[in-house]
Amino acid sequence: MPGKPKYYLTTPIYYTNGLPHIGHTYSTIVCDTIRRYKRMRGYDVVMTTGTDEHGVNVERSAKKAGVPESEFVAKMAAEWRALWEELGVQGDEFIRTTDLKHAHTVQWLFKQCRDNGFVYPGHYTGQYCIYDNAYVDVKPGENCPDCGRPTETVTEANFYFKLSAFQKPLLDWYAKHPDFIQPEARRNEVLSFVEGGLRDLSITRTSVRWGIPVPGEEPHVLYVWFDALTAYLSAVGGPQYEKTGFWPANLHLVGKEIIRFHAVYWPAFLMAAGLPLPKQIWAHGWLLMDSAKMSKSLGNVVRPRPIVHVLGMDALRYYLLRETVFGQDGNFSYEALVQRYNSDLANGLGNLASRAAAMMEKNSGGKIPQPAAFQPQDTVLATRAQEVIGEVLEQYDQLGFSLALEEIWSLIAATDKYLTTEHPWSLTDSEADQQRRATILWTTAEVLRIVTALTYPVLPESATRVWSLLGQPDQPGSFPLDGLRWGQLAPGTLLGKSQALFPRIEKAEAIERMESMEKEAQKQPSPVTVPAPPSTPAAGGAAAAAAPAAAEKIGIEDFAKVEMRVGQIKTAERIVGADKLLKLTVDIGTEIRQICAGIAQYYEPEKLIGRKVAVVVNLAPRKLRGVESNGMIIAATVGPEGRPVLAGFPDEDVEIGARLK
Ligand code: MSP
Repeated sequence: MPGKPKYYLTTPIYYTNGLPHIGHTYSTIVCDTIRRYKRMRGYDVVMTTGTDEHGVNVERSAKKAGVPESEFVAKMAAEWRALWEELGVQGDEFIRTTDLKHAHTVQWLFKQCRDNGFVYPGHYTGQYCIYDNAYVDVKPGENCPDCGRPTETVTEANFYFKLSAFQKPLLDWYAKHPDFIQPEARRNEVLSFVEGGLRDLSITRTSVRWGIPVPGEEPHVLYVWFDALTAYLSAVGGPQYEKTGFWPANLHLVGKEIIRFHAVYWPAFLMAAGLPLPKQIWAHGWLLMDSAKMSKSLGNVVRPRPIVHVLGMDALRYYLLRETVFGQDGNFSYEALVQRYNSDLANGLGNLASRAAAMMEKNSGGKIPQPAAFQPQDTVLATRAQEVIGEVLEQYDQLGFSLALEEIWSLIAATDKYLTTEHPWSLTDSEADQQRRATILWTTAEVLRIVTALTYPVLPESATRVWSLLGQPDQPGSFPLDGLRWGQLAPGTLLGKSQALFPRIEKAEAIERMESMEKEAQKQPSPVTVPAPPSTPAAGGAAAAAAPAAAEKIGIEDFAKVEMRVGQIKTAERIVGADKLLKLTVDIGTEIRQICAGIAQYYEPEKLIGRKVAVVVNLAPRKLRGVESNGMIIAATVGPEGRPVLAGFPDEDVEIGARLK
């Protein structure tokens, strides 16, 4: 039997110098909805999300927080991950651009592009926007045309990517694959950009330290966009992508401001490396607050947690997908959010589910009733429901979430009207009336089952509750949507426990609560706070590790706090005025670190080059004799004079960056 078809989709990889707001949440929730929908359509789906952790911006934020970059990004990535879980997002792969497998994929991709003749060395001077991580076409002193923030003049040695060579191949590709870029407006924008001519692109930096090193070309690190885009590939096997079968991606979902990176640079890198191109790139619009794009620098962000706390995660998911036409910008307002909650969720779906459950509880002994003869008004509703199934699937296929939900809610409204005209509650206990009531209740419950299966991708939590209320097996998410038809609800099925779905909420009070939680959240310090300075600095960077005062035992969780990796010494030099110290640069797989080690009296600097050592990578940086040291090399302390002997890996060719456990 052939396996399920594979479907691979991605969210953008989020910057870790800030925390998520509902603009980011929008990208992720849309992806999660598609993921759930595709699963219900029988696909073997992988969805990747993750964090984009390199670049000057992170370097600066970490410095401000007084922690090493690795610690800073680890804490921020954990925050992003936790939030997605709270929002019911089922990411299959969470890729961090500081993951070792990712660094290897990026280095491999660079090498493929270079081996194929599309990379050459050069110099570049330009205005750089550190917030967008891009050179911008403005004069010194002018602000970034995209985000309005100051730019910096940067001159550096770098490697160029021959983007200019891809103008024709890209235009041919767009012509052959008219659906590659969606929606139409974005496709036209990209086409005219490429038709206007492409300049070669600087893809390495020597002015940035916190990045993935170019092997053999240190101190070059790869440009953050070359790095971040490759995350889509490293999440599904990297160089071994053929083994997972999930590359090329079916869909990259992105915000409209990053379409150029995805629809021009990324396909060009892949073409240069001889790799397959993703099938589609869909750019959604922005969520605006007071008519401006939500952003930390404008101070107009709205965070998801207060909304989830007051109205629940499904309310936020529903609002984001219902209120904005996918592909266009949409305005966020608390007012509209609570309005939608009360009218569509509390009075609409919630009310229909609780009425149906109460009537079946009372009249059919807590079971799905056995319908008798259907009358034309029942058949009209049945026909409408069957039509809605087709229309909703078609809309979901085109990412028309708003229209899909509108269709489903029109069916809910039609069912409310049906109940009002049929008024089963006023029927008597006569045999004929009982039969009629059973038919009406079965019809209502069958609409509810169909509505539940169709809303599950958007409302996973509430749909699961209604599903079990109707006594349906498993989760609605495992119901095959291709087989959804009117008439599948089995009479006699025992109903599950009735639970309140969307309690009505007073608008002013709800808004007040959400706004005050948002204000409180803004006052909270960042999850990465400035640590206290270390009490007694150690003698040197190398582990002249003093034995613990008492033979106190530590748990494995304490040990796990120390992150040790295999590093390779790239440069080593003496420090003027410090006889014991050597200044080393060490490749730890994901970056090059400067580390001072107290080994100068025992090791010749030039003999250390290329040596593999054990490095503690998550120590807070500190200055030794005025030189910054970011990490510690492990050494044994031997003999009465405490001679350091470097720990190493003589017997095996261990991978740089491998973790010591
Ligand atoms: N790190 C890059 C993406 C690299 S992908 C290989 C980045 N990160 S981001 O955190 O700034 O943005 C990630 C996504 O959030 C983008 O798709 C962006 O459009 C989306 N949003 C951020 N603010 C937004 C709104 N106000 N509204 C809707 N989406 C917006 O760019």
